[in-house]
Amino acid sequence: MNPLDYLRPVGRLRVLLYDRRARSELITRWTRKNAVHQYTTFTLLDRYPRLFAAAQIELSDRIAPAILSFGCSSGEEVVSLRRYFPGARLVGAEINPVQLAACAQLPADPQMTFIRSTHAAITELGPYDAIFCMAVLQRLPHVVEQRGIRNIAKRYPFAHFASEVKFLADQLRPGGLLVIDHCQYRVEDVDAPLRPVVNETLSLAKGPRFDPSGALIAPQPVVARMFRRTDARAEHAEGGMIGQGQ
Ligand SMILES: C[S@@+](CC[C@H](N)C(=O)[O-])C[C@H]1O[C@@H](n2cnc3c(N)ncnc32)[C@H](O)[C@@H]1O
Repeated sequence: MNPLDYLRPVGRLRVLLYDRRARSELITRWTRKNAVHQYTTFTLLDRYPRLFAAAQIELSDRIAPAILSFGCSSGEEVVSLRRYFPGARLVGAEINPVQLAACAQLPADPQMTFIRSTHAAITELGPYDAIFCMAVLQRLPHVVEQRGIRNIAKRYPFAHFASEVKFLADQLRPGGLLVIDHCQYRVEDVDAPLRPVVNETLSLAKGPRFDPSGALIAPQPVVARMFRRTDARAEHAEGGMIGQGQ
């Protein structure tokens, strides 16, 4: 063992004592352990300009879209979305109470709401024309990458990821858009009424991706970052008619 490893717990304790955000991440991890995905709350203004601009094109037929930012941290993502969607009704949902309190300090916008992330609260303000779920459905991906971990089933089970993707798909209007990236699993592996959008955002995954058993996918796959909600019932009816005609 590297002698410096012995000092790591001391360093962590110092951070927890003096860093309110780090403390809140740990508390959220303990108190909302069945609901939380990524614990860390790092965010930036206009963090995903290519994706935001592509979503603007995809949603150009919706004049006043309702948009959810799931896992909005301290609100920068929602503030950024306002620049791309001036007529939108924006909802930011966050699980970490310290980050949510930071959202409440942002300049007032009558069409911007921040909520504590629970399924009931998100459903109450839906349905949505678009949901942004950026860098949320993962757990400490840098640690996984640095340590070369090849199976994440125990750290972050696929079932937790899949049930959230299904919930978010249910919150979309038919044809609504799920914009999602920096996940450790593939949305394509979830049984949800979502169809990948084939545009310039479809490209090689940025970090390691894992299959539903939790095993590393090698080589790194190409993934979609935008999905349209399909009207599952209409599609089934259509499929049924084709079947009857044959
Ligand atoms: C790495 S930050 C990403 C923030 C922002 N979306 C971005 O990409 O810049 C992940 C955020 O997701 C939040 N989060 C994790 N699980 C959540 C859940 N179930 N509901 C809402 N927020 C969640 C965390 O508290 C954290 O603020």
